[in-house]
Amino acid sequence: MKTTIASLKARQIWDSRGRPTVEAEVTLAGGAVGRAIAPAGASRGAHEAVDLRDGGERFGGMGVDGAVAAINETLAKLLVGQDAADQSAIDAAIIASDNTPNKARHGANATVSLSMAVLHAAAAAEGLPLWRYLAGEADVRLPLPEIQIFGGGAHAGRRTDIQDFMIMTPHAGSVRRALEITADVYRAAGEVMAGRGQLSGTADEGGWWPNFNSNEEALVAMVESIEKAGYRPGVDVYISLDVAANELFEDGSYRLPLDNATMDSGAMVDRVSRWAATYPILSIEDPVSQDDMAGMADATKRLGETIQMIGDDFLVTNAARVDRAAAEGACNAALIKVNQAGTVSEAKAALDAARAQGWATIVSARSGETEDLTIAHLSTGWDAGQLKVGSFARSERMAKWNELLRIEEAMGSRARFAGIDAFPASVAAHLKASRA
Ligand code: PGA
Ligand code: ZN
Repeated sequence: MKTTIASLKARQIWDSRGRPTVEAEVTLAGGAVGRAIAPAGASRGAHEAVDLRDGGERFGGMGVDGAVAAINETLAKLLVGQDAADQSAIDAAIIASDNTPNKARHGANATVSLSMAVLHAAAAAEGLPLWRYLAGEADVRLPLPEIQIFGGGAHAGRRTDIQDFMIMTPHAGSVRRALEITADVYRAAGEVMAGRGQLSGTADEGGWWPNFNSNEEALVAMVESIEKAGYRPGVDVYISLDVAANELFEDGSYRLPLDNATMDSGAMVDRVSRWAATYPILSIEDPVSQDDMAGMADATKRLGETIQMIGDDFLVTNAARVDRAAAEGACNAALIKVNQAGTVSEAKAALDAARAQGWATIVSARSGETEDLTIAHLSTGWDAGQLKVGSFARSERMAKWNELLRIEEAMGSRARFAGIDAFPASVAAHLKASRA
């Protein structure tokens, strides 16, 4: 069979933070080759699949010799001879071989690179771009981009407590136009920072380094940047936040050093709600920490009719956690990071679970990335509706946006931009009404 796995191997390469990562390469009997690279998070959830790192002195303990060996020595033996076109069987074999709840034996860096490489090989064997292979004959939408302007939290020495200050352009009509608007706002934000004497380069995902004296000052600068670029905040361009509140949670309290505040969950939700009432915020990720179900349910109840409430560390791309959160009324959207789950099939199951709840879905990069383009194809081919990659600078980010442009072009007259419909129904309805 042309899709039988003939050989596979892994190698150590390097990510956007100059840290080692794993690249897997799969060759099929028919000659098709698939390759994929594991990304790496910095603000990780406790419940996500874990990377296997060598520890010790070398590369600050970040070495991936063990993960590379897991593929070359163990998983290769298991998968050679199997059918790459049967992704769920491949992933089931990887999961069974790992046999831990969080990929601790082989490492999620090994399993995710291998799982995605198999998927790429299967698509290549059909001579199809990955997005089309995944979509089949169905018409799928190009995702609405969520793009960072200021990058804080764990990606910028904790210069701001909030991690991502992003923009969304649901009315842009196309990826091409969404990226043009983003380019204008990103450039304007740089000028705003320069004007304040606060321009000092970029953070891990390419957003401007956030030299602010309070979290709210960053929100003010977001509005100023949108206006300076010639757009109407809350009409043409909306703000999206990733609070990444896990990183703020310690000993039962939320600490926001920049605001000189220590709060319980209720007060944290109050604060986020106040920001939402004051600024044109359309989407909020992880407003509370990963195990604060009551806080997330409270935040969703208070804001979820008009604002997309995303679980990232809160859901860790896990179908069971999606179902549990939904039962409690927590979240109305799920971030989908394949390496949080560890295989393509498990990530897809989390996406399907979220969709079954009527939630929105956002395929996402990690803060440690590479030239790997898989997520541009997954977000489109799975019809996820949204894509989060980081900012509008640094080629590990731009590579994904540029790939979306190529996909949009390839779709030609069939191209459809997810736009407003990318959001949960109530949020989309509110957006439509406010436009009318
Ligand atoms: P990461 O965080 O550093 O774990 O990739 C990105 C995010 O919180 O969305
Ligand atoms: Zn996040």
